[in-house]
Amino acid sequence: MTTVNPPTQRLLGKTAFITGAATGIGLATARLFSREGARVALADINSSAGERAAKDIASKGGKAVFIFLDVSREDQWPRAWQEAQLALGTIHILVNNAGVASPVTPENVTLESWRRMREVNVDGPFLGIRQAIGSMKKTGGGRIINVGSISGMVGDPDLPFYSATKGALNQLSLSASQYCARENLPISVNAILPGAVKTNMSAPYMATPRDLQALAEAHPLGRIAQPEEMALAILFLAAQAPANLTGAQLVVDGGLTAQ
Ligand SMILES: NC(=O)c1ccc[n+]([C@@H]2O[C@H](COP(=O)([O-])OP(=O)(O)OC[C@H]3O[C@@H](n4cnc5c(N)ncnc54)[C@H](O)[C@@H]3O)[C@@H](O)[C@H]2O)c1
Repeated sequence: MTTVNPPTQRLLGKTAFITGAATGIGLATARLFSREGARVALADINSSAGERAAKDIASKGGKAVFIFLDVSREDQWPRAWQEAQLALGTIHILVNNAGVASPVTPENVTLESWRRMREVNVDGPFLGIRQAIGSMKKTGGGRIINVGSISGMVGDPDLPFYSATKGALNQLSLSASQYCARENLPISVNAILPGAVKTNMSAPYMATPRDLQALAEAHPLGRIAQPEEMALAILFLAAQAPANLTGAQLVVDGGLTAQ
């Protein structure tokens, strides 16, 4: 008689700290990680959605907490990290996912809104990487995954400043991976670079059926990705990727930049 082994949970015993986890890609990642056995800290500025999401995960048998964190605030990171560790134990995985985008042109952007975008999309992941390296090097290592964008690889007339911040994040990922390798730290740093994904952030670009169709057709696979597909790519980097995979920029864009 053949025995069927139960599916193994790929993150059993692990704790993950996920920023921007109240909605979209971060929420899909928190849900998937929990199903894969991880304890998850959902960090976000959106307390109502974040609390709700953590409760929902817990109601399905997962271990999840919501942590209030504005990723751009240097003073909030140590408290948030400590709060998560007190509730869930040593953190093994950081997903730097929180981000903002606004459709501005080089002619109409204000310096203030440019600075805010940079604070969230670049300062935030920088502070997260610094926090994680300092902590993980004392606790046996870990994996850092940054959510970049293909907008950081190419120019974008509709999102020039978003594109610039994501370009900076893509480079930060590469440099942090090099640093950890050189210092012999057991910490990998990788990124996913999504194409268009159906979330609150991309909603303004899909406001009409015509916009939606044009955006879908720009991707060779002919459709917009779902946040759950990004979560699978993040899970790969967090759980299944070999230990020597670092400095990778995993493009998940339905073939858009391969054209
Ligand atoms: N949606 C897309 O098409 C797309 C494409 C490429 C990359 N991305 C990236 O994916 C990531 C997640 O975005 P999403 O599409 O899920 O959008 P989303 O708006 O659903 O999620 C972003 C989350 O970040 C949180 N957030 C915003 N500012 C924050 C701050 N200062 N501190 C903490 N949390 C903050 C928001 O509250 C929200 O929960 C972002 O980094 C985004 O740039 C998205």
